[in-house]
Amino acid sequence: MSDLTLAFPTLAGLEEVLADELTDLGLTDVEIGRRVVTGTGDLALVYRANLELRTALRVLINIDAFRVDREQELYDRLRATNWRQYLMPEGSLYISVVDPGAWFRNTHYIAQLAKDAIVDQFRDKYQTRPSVDKGNPDLSIHLRISGDGNVDLSVDTSGDGLHRRGYRRRTGEAPINEVLAAGMLRIAGYSGEQPLVDPMCGSGTILAEATMIATNRPPGMNRAFGFQRWPDFDEAQWDSIRKAASDRIQTAQHPILGADIDDSAIAIARDTLERAGVLATVELRTSPFAELQPLPVDETVSGLLITNPPYEMRMQTGDIVAFYTAIGDTLKQQWAGYTAWLISANAQAVKRVGLRTSRKVPLMNGPVEARFCKYELYLGTRQQKSSATD
Ligand SMILES: C[S@@+](CC[C@H](N)C(=O)[O-])C[C@H]1O[C@@H](n2cnc3c(N)ncnc32)[C@H](O)[C@@H]1O
Repeated sequence: MSDLTLAFPTLAGLEEVLADELTDLGLTDVEIGRRVVTGTGDLALVYRANLELRTALRVLINIDAFRVDREQELYDRLRATNWRQYLMPEGSLYISVVDPGAWFRNTHYIAQLAKDAIVDQFRDKYQTRPSVDKGNPDLSIHLRISGDGNVDLSVDTSGDGLHRRGYRRRTGEAPINEVLAAGMLRIAGYSGEQPLVDPMCGSGTILAEATMIATNRPPGMNRAFGFQRWPDFDEAQWDSIRKAASDRIQTAQHPILGADIDDSAIAIARDTLERAGVLATVELRTSPFAELQPLPVDETVSGLLITNPPYEMRMQTGDIVAFYTAIGDTLKQQWAGYTAWLISANAQAVKRVGLRTSRKVPLMNGPVEARFCKYELYLGTRQQKSSATD
């Protein structure tokens, strides 16, 4: 399988950083769409993409694109597609349909028709048929139909979404999506070359993703993928890709610190980091942000603070606006020499941070629209100010 047409769905706002990751991985004809990046690559790239990409949700192979005018044509085309390379006759499948047009009867009907076409092919050839399994199918098929009858037929190589890194067992309150955390780190330019702090780390998602970046550890090292269940799975190639990636794992060059006011959040973070295989790289402290001692930085290496503060009263912070004002004060007074990035969906509260925002990136945190805001806390500025007042 060379020259495969590939699609990589992602979260809104992460398309550019995903395209960078994919270019580094060797994808060609890279194009950025809405919540997706597409391009061309081979099977080795599909394996590596699943294992190594930090900001993609899935890896899809587009196996056919065609136009149909009648439902029967869809059935015929799917029945004529060779499914045996992706699915054993006694395997299981699931078909998801995106059909925004009113051209076909309904989404459920199309899924049924597509399933019949595939199942009929197997029954004809092998006298047995795959079953349907929504929860854990051997093969997941994506059918996207546009209003004018253009059909995109893809197979999902990932199985579980790629945000499932295999390290999360327990979560704290409002955990952030792993792919979003990795995307935020990438947007902030984090590559392990500077000290990193998440002072409100909750269950430790940002820390786990940062540590995997700093140690060059692939996020998919602890999990299985859909393509491993395909009949044509190339185990030898997969083993050598995994071994090469594992050989590239290195020790972190700069410290990583996580803190939270809540002891039980720190316990969950410890568990998360242990399961991710990176606990030894991270220091964890139970501390309110106002009392947290920053990791040392100087003129040669600045620090990075990335955090996802509470943005609702629900999280028992009392007055949320006063809380953000206090975050701003702490940043000003104690975190000079750092670049700070906060993600928050509470626009009113963020205004009260009271620092100049040098960048603002719109991102979706689950269904919630959020802003990822950057603040520069120059070391020089404070020194200049204090020398000016001396
Ligand atoms: C939205 S959660 C962070 C979720 C985290 N990103 C994750 O993926 O699990 C916010 C965290 O801030 C913590 N927090 C609230 N007030 C704090 C304070 N003053 N100092 C430090 N942490 C605080 C809460 O205990 C909570 O764990």
